Amino acid sequence: MANMKRPGRGVAAMTSLAAAILAAAPAAAAPPTTGFAIVTQTEDGQPIPRSAGLPYAPKNLPDRIVLTPGADPARDMAVAYRTDTAQAESQAQIAVSVDGPTLEEKALLVTGTSLPVDSSYGRALYHQVRFTDLTPDTVYAYRVKGAAGWSEWHQFRTAAAEAKPFRFLYLGDIQNGILTYASRVIRQAFHAHGDIRLTLHAGDLVGQRDDLDHDDEWGEWNQAGGHHYAMVPQLPATGNHEYVDHILPGGTESRRLGPYWPAQFALPSNGVDPVKATTYYVDYQGVRFIILDGTAAIDLGSMEQQTAWLDATLAASKANWNVVLFHQPVFTCARPNDTAAVKAAWKPVFDRRKVDLVLQGHDHCYSRLTSEAGRAAGTKVRADGGIQGPVYLVSVTGSKMYRLNTRAPNQPDKVAEATELYQIVDVEPRRLKFRTFTATGSLYDGFDLERTAAGNRLSEISESTIAARTCKGEIGPDGGLCVATGK
Ligand SMILES: [Fe+2]
Repeated sequence: MANMKRPGRGVAAMTSLAAAILAAAPAAAAPPTTGFAIVTQTEDGQPIPRSAGLPYAPKNLPDRIVLTPGADPARDMAVAYRTDTAQAESQAQIAVSVDGPTLEEKALLVTGTSLPVDSSYGRALYHQVRFTDLTPDTVYAYRVKGAAGWSEWHQFRTAAAEAKPFRFLYLGDIQNGILTYASRVIRQAFHAHGDIRLTLHAGDLVGQRDDLDHDDEWGEWNQAGGHHYAMVPQLPATGNHEYVDHILPGGTESRRLGPYWPAQFALPSNGVDPVKATTYYVDYQGVRFIILDGTAAIDLGSMEQQTAWLDATLAASKANWNVVLFHQPVFTCARPNDTAAVKAAWKPVFDRRKVDLVLQGHDHCYSRLTSEAGRAAGTKVRADGGIQGPVYLVSVTGSKMYRLNTRAPNQPDKVAEATELYQIVDVEPRRLKFRTFTATGSLYDGFDLERTAAGNRLSEISESTIAARTCKGEIGPDGGLCVATGK
């Protein structure tokens, strides 16, 4: 987190295990001469559990298989996967799926690009393959290749070419307790809610912030989502933790995108310079999803370009609904101040272009905000005239939790402390149903947006939700000291 207290990170000196790995690495797989130190604690000082051996080392079979959409996911999809260096070429097979075990006969071979990433495990290759000219609303099967053979067949359905009801999952920061805690939230979402067609990540997928070895965190991230990431297109936004701190020659502190992002995600590249690797949009069955890079906008000087691109991309949208995804929230629920730069630049665009949902993370709490005026007045007042402007959400999936700021408890809508959450959104051409669930699958919050001639009307849900979760005690890492007033 950029401006929150950041206790000293626990980093092991080069362990004998790491040294042994480096010594044993073949010449072709040699890591950079600077070597890597393995991170053993979260930034909050919590130990990261590690099993013996090399659980996340690259192998001769594919792993870290992540599906991403093209700009038109009715016709284009892409996959990224990882192998050891023995598999030099990026190779996938794809076929329209059938009900019998005859995929190999019909499969087409598709090749792509390969990108090396070095860690204490040595060199890995991340391969990316793009599937183009697909048929809309069709189930495809694909598999990817390592030196020892193919992965299992994974299936996905292309989007329909027209607006059609579908369901997507929105996750806040995973970042800490990735496998320990966040995995159960992700798996609960997929277990309890069938046919999720997209997953949106609001940034800080992992905790990396420096040049040390965070390979295991990406291993945990992939293990947490597992085959769901290979079947369901992922729409990630960068958080500040996808960037690593970087000292410029003059001593100025800066940031640069970490090495895993461009390797792990084969994104559409239809965003804006100079942040094409981290900004993009996707049209899916009547929804335009626009993904922005808050860190690059705030800290690296691309706010002006991103704002102009956001405005143009919204202006050109023919979708029924427009959803914007990024990390640093306009309205904070934990930090003492709202994110001024984002609020000044992007909120006017959201208002003018009538964005429906603004999905964010970063604050490690939950917040739904429907009325800025109500929040400013500290009342539960609804939006003026019953016409709803953009609805602002902040959520969190992993184990790092922050206490609510002084404004959040008085705002019109529900908030939460120390609660791991996931959000299920059901989209119809004129109705959007937003539901927030806890890690155990309890309904926590929800609303419906209905499109009328005058604009969106918001209604609260009739289903019962569990009580608001706020904490009487301290909020510790992993929620250990929090006493919630709710369930
Ligand atoms: Fe963050």
